[in-house]
Amino acid sequence: MSKAAKLIYDGKEIELPLLTGTENEDAIDISKIRSETGLITLDKGYKNTGATTSKITYLDGEKGILRHRGYSIEELASKSSFTEVCYLLIYGELPTKDQLDNFEHEIRFHTLVHEDFKIILDGYPSKAHPMGVLSSLITSLTAFYPESLDPSRSRKLVDLSIVRILGKFPTFAAWSYKKRTGHPIIYPDNSLDYCSNFLKMMFALPSMEYEPNPVVTDALNKLLILHADHEQNCSTSTVRIVGSAQSSIYPSISAGINALWGPLHGGANQAVIEMLDTIMNDNNDVDKYIKKAKDKSDPFRLMGFGHRVYKNFDPRAKIIKKAADNVLDKLGVNDPVLELAKKLEKIALEDEYFIQKKLYPNVDFYSGIIYRALGFPPEMFTVMFAFGRLPGWISQWVEMRQNKEPLGRPRQIYLGETQRDYVDIKNR
Ligand code: CMC
Repeated sequence: MSKAAKLIYDGKEIELPLLTGTENEDAIDISKIRSETGLITLDKGYKNTGATTSKITYLDGEKGILRHRGYSIEELASKSSFTEVCYLLIYGELPTKDQLDNFEHEIRFHTLVHEDFKIILDGYPSKAHPMGVLSSLITSLTAFYPESLDPSRSRKLVDLSIVRILGKFPTFAAWSYKKRTGHPIIYPDNSLDYCSNFLKMMFALPSMEYEPNPVVTDALNKLLILHADHEQNCSTSTVRIVGSAQSSIYPSISAGINALWGPLHGGANQAVIEMLDTIMNDNNDVDKYIKKAKDKSDPFRLMGFGHRVYKNFDPRAKIIKKAADNVLDKLGVNDPVLELAKKLEKIALEDEYFIQKKLYPNVDFYSGIIYRALGFPPEMFTVMFAFGRLPGWISQWVEMRQNKEPLGRPRQIYLGETQRDYVDIKNR
């Protein structure tokens, strides 16, 4: 017998079918509520609304489980490379050696960007935040590859757009940083692997050779993997909703970058390090900031704490905390902020407010500390989150198009004025 829920409204009973996922999660299919009852559902912030069905990422917030295409985040972070995870997310299976070689070769082929991008970059003031620069450079790809705009695009064209954006994103990200520092841009070096190539474009100077450091490259691989996808979060839902209007992959991802930028989402990693620096400069007064975070009349929140779906622990945060210790140790970096972060975490985890509201450190709490140890300035932290999330956005956009999902268009309950007569300006 197929499962169903019943809705009784206005003396009428309607049956709503249940949909069960492969991990036994049940959902009520509400699509016929409006046609049968005239009602809409209201769920601000979509806190309990499934916007789609997906085969990409499974997440259990209560148990702290995160899996991509069935593989646990713990295994992927310890055993695979970022490009392997990109392939897995986008094409659904781990690549064979030949498939991976070919994929990496294709990406390498597209790392260079048109020289005219340098003119666009030149137009920005040097203090421009790299997230804003990055999102506009990604949208600008439509100007250079206008065929990507055709809504009837073939799979071959989509695959080409995918390797193009994967190839060019690190170049844009590094160049947006160079713009900010005023240093000359560095061109891609395709003799290097994906992560080392990016690191060279970030940190090399024309007067100085860049020697890839395996500790740094490994740490970057791990961090990117840990951010690779997170099912229907704010930026991914943005990518899907923009793509649902049949917009091309470039502006859809550019929209995702802008959504990620906000401090409640990916922008939290920059906010965490700024918060930790503030606490350190305020005599390490952790108690004062815990008190502020609990005070309803104070807008201050403990950045890097809490999550919309994780209500036990964030499995990515566990891995990152360990990685932070390891990277700082191997690089011989002594950042007092790591000790402060651990102290803050310990106090918060023992505090009734945080326990009761199920607020735990999230992925952003320790990632900034590693990025700082690797030489990244705080304004690049969210760019690094976007870099990691790129394959997730791509795979979600592709899945949404493949499933021919309808135009995303939520409804509302209107609470404004009812109809009234226009008043001439002289009489107002
Ligand atoms: N510090 C203090 N109080 C908090 C915090 C925090 N970091 N997070 C949530 N709360 C309180 C909040 O005030 C509310 O209290 P009350 O029920 O009394 O009104 C309660 O906990 C529930 O919070 P919410 O904002 O309704 O919950 P949410 O699921 O909408 O918020 C969140 C999730 C991530 C926006 C929020 O926890 C937050 O603002 N955290 C800080 C920013 C942050 O670290 N963001 C990164 C998230 S992880 C990266 C990503 O995937 O985007």
